[in-house]
Amino acid sequence: MRFVHVVGVRPNFMKIAPIMSALEQHTNVEQLLVHTGQHYDPEMSQVFFDDLGIPRPDVDLGLGSGQHGSQTGRMMIELERVFAELRPDCVVVVGDVNSTMAGALVAAKLRMPCAHVEAGLRSFDRSMPEEINRIVTDRVADLLLTHSADADENLLAEGVPNTAIHLVGNVMIDTLLTHLEHAKRRPTLDSVGVAPGAYALATLHRPSNVDDRIVLESFLDTLEWIQQKLAVVLPLHPRTRRRLGEFSLLERATIMPNLKLIEPLGYLDFLALTASSKFVLTDSGGLQEETTVLGIPCLTLRACTERPVTVSVGTNTVVGSDPQMIRNAVGEILAGRGKAGTIPELWDGRASQRAARVLIGNLTHRPICEG
Ligand code: UD1
Repeated sequence: MRFVHVVGVRPNFMKIAPIMSALEQHTNVEQLLVHTGQHYDPEMSQVFFDDLGIPRPDVDLGLGSGQHGSQTGRMMIELERVFAELRPDCVVVVGDVNSTMAGALVAAKLRMPCAHVEAGLRSFDRSMPEEINRIVTDRVADLLLTHSADADENLLAEGVPNTAIHLVGNVMIDTLLTHLEHAKRRPTLDSVGVAPGAYALATLHRPSNVDDRIVLESFLDTLEWIQQKLAVVLPLHPRTRRRLGEFSLLERATIMPNLKLIEPLGYLDFLALTASSKFVLTDSGGLQEETTVLGIPCLTLRACTERPVTVSVGTNTVVGSDPQMIRNAVGEILAGRGKAGTIPELWDGRASQRAARVLIGNLTHRPICEG
């Protein structure tokens, strides 16, 4: 059985790593890894391969950035050639990024079975590029591996047959639990210059939050207010750094005494910082889940979340971009009333083993394709 895994961006790497390890435990499995190169800076890509022990990609397309249409189009052109050559029994895509959708579409057009890991998540906000990617990927993939019951419900409501949906749990949490103790022993906090529990960790990179000067400046105002109360660490995504520069806001951010602007971090250093933070402010998807498992309050700087279980069960509060709402929520946490949650079902460190069994079981018994 030959699996071809497609990855492209930072949040894909921690999802594919445990799946590849779990499949490795099975006999008669061959795995090939294709990296589209959507993320290409060493600190956005290579460091994750090193930290997580992911094998070097068998195919590295080095496609880089671009507008959504042209970026996805270039990926499809190259992936069509690569899949035709590699002839996979199954293409595996993870998450909701342009590389995910490109891989799923090409597999579907070539009538190759495709599995989507982290299927069924919906924000119901089609202005998010990732929402389009989620819908399209789930529509064309054959096997939908989900991490929460709400994802199953979304898929069933869209008419996906029950037999295609497999609730396996959260593979990204497998990676977190595997590396947590090791990450905590790193000297990350010392090198950043913060003490455990005495800082907030912030990440900001969504186009809707950073591509508009007024919105980005308002977040900067809020960060300025927060850093007067406790240190804030902000690893800067390349998109955000570029926008701060274009809007002439970078210097203002740089001179705030208690705002620590740092380069993007590798997996282990970022996990070390998350695990010891007082709270997290973020517009990331994955971080909402990681904070839930770590029991760290998370304030999500978006109007909605495609990961509602982190709110209903976990430590997440969706605060949007309203400065007053964010300040109120920060005030609650600093007063010792941060949200305490529990860990969602099947986010137990064994999701990738379940995923591997589903992948192999369904390939073995797969019906012959029509057409
Ligand atoms: C992508 C994903 C998003 C994910 C994020 C994680 C899509 C639609 N979006 O967004 O869901 O949360 O990755 O980071 O797939 N850049 C660099 N160096 C890099 C990578 C990017 O400088 O290594 C620059 C690019 O030139 C571009 C910008 O950052 O201008 C954005 O990169 P892109 O891959 O288009 O999307 P992200 O915003 O990173």
